[in-house]
Amino acid sequence: MRTLKVALGARSYPIHIGDGLRRRADLILPLLKTPRAMIVSNETVAPLYLDDVVAALAAVGVDAGHIILPDGEAYKDWATLNRIFDGLMAARCERSTTLIALGGGVIGDMVGFAAATFQRGVPFIQLPTTLLAQVDSSVGGKTAINHPLGKNMIGAFHQPRLVLADIATLATLPARELSAGLAEVIKYGLIRDAAFFAWLEDNMARLVARDGDALAYAIECSCANKAEIVAADETEQGVRAILNLGHTFGHAIEAGMGYGEWLHGEAVAAGAMMAAELSRMRGWLTDADVARIEAIHRAAGLPVRGPALPIGQYLELMAHDKKVEGGRLRLVLLEGIGRAVIDGDSPRPSIEAAIRERIDA
Ligand code: NAD
Ligand code: GLY
Repeated sequence: MRTLKVALGARSYPIHIGDGLRRRADLILPLLKTPRAMIVSNETVAPLYLDDVVAALAAVGVDAGHIILPDGEAYKDWATLNRIFDGLMAARCERSTTLIALGGGVIGDMVGFAAATFQRGVPFIQLPTTLLAQVDSSVGGKTAINHPLGKNMIGAFHQPRLVLADIATLATLPARELSAGLAEVIKYGLIRDAAFFAWLEDNMARLVARDGDALAYAIECSCANKAEIVAADETEQGVRAILNLGHTFGHAIEAGMGYGEWLHGEAVAAGAMMAAELSRMRGWLTDADVARIEAIHRAAGLPVRGPALPIGQYLELMAHDKKVEGGRLRLVLLEGIGRAVIDGDSPRPSIEAAIRERIDA
């Protein structure tokens, strides 16, 4: 097991990465105020892993109930969030009851938001079971649900007490979902870690083949990058925004196509290519840089072009981005591989041209 720390003073917490961690209730027990927990999962993940977690908790004397939600990005909404509250109320959960999010980023984001608001805030633990959740969404305390006009528009910052990334759960992850997670892994290389990007270029085939050592290393590097950024800027007043490389374009793809049609990671990959294209137009990336960025996304099994939504719809949806300030769109671009910049000066025709260059004809 490898352990990293998200350093946030009294709210610091560990990220444990390893094989079989869903059974390590001994890592959970010391964090509980009372020996009671509520596990929230979905219809896909629960049949695979819920019993293991419940049994491990029972073995250390923790009574764990469960709430099972429907599966999918389309359910990251008010109605489904309310089902968590219904379950917590029906089970008479208290302010001391710890919630455990068992699933991918959709479950993690919704359970985190429920924990942020139930009885004005209860503790929660992330047990992420997708690569995307293990390298990104389970770390950093961003919690949210979607609005039909914008991704993650309603939410809160609420840090977990612990992240337990069980690499063994990735064995059952569909290949398309593994690729989606790799989009966020590649992101860390692009925004601040050129050495990691080069390692990814050399090792992408091992990752796609689910080599355990390669996955552990990629998850650790990703979480180390994210933990540093979150510790420096928990509520995204500045540098944390670079974690959104490709996301402004990508969120427009997700909302524009209907949530769940394009996976989040797929939309981020196509969005990163649009950001790379715009960075080339700004004179910051060379043709060779863009070719490397395209090649690594292709090697990860990710799309390098977005869907042919009307350009006007892209721009309309992008205008809802949380980074918009005083009506001005701010985008994460690249000054080089491993060097992100937050840019509010790209002319609208250039943004349109970058999208046009990177959508299906
Ligand atoms: P997801 O949660 O929808 O999971 C993907 C699919 O895999 C689902 O069908 C799920 O049921 C299934 N699944 C999960 N674990 C499995 C396993 N071990 N075996 C088999 N199937 C499994 O999607 P995701 O990619 O994990 O997360 C995407 C979400 O994360 C988006 O809503 C995105 O906005 C959010 N996100 C949040 C942050 C953040 O900082 N909070 C960062 C990145 C992404
Ligand atoms: N995934 C973006 C962030 O955590 O800030």
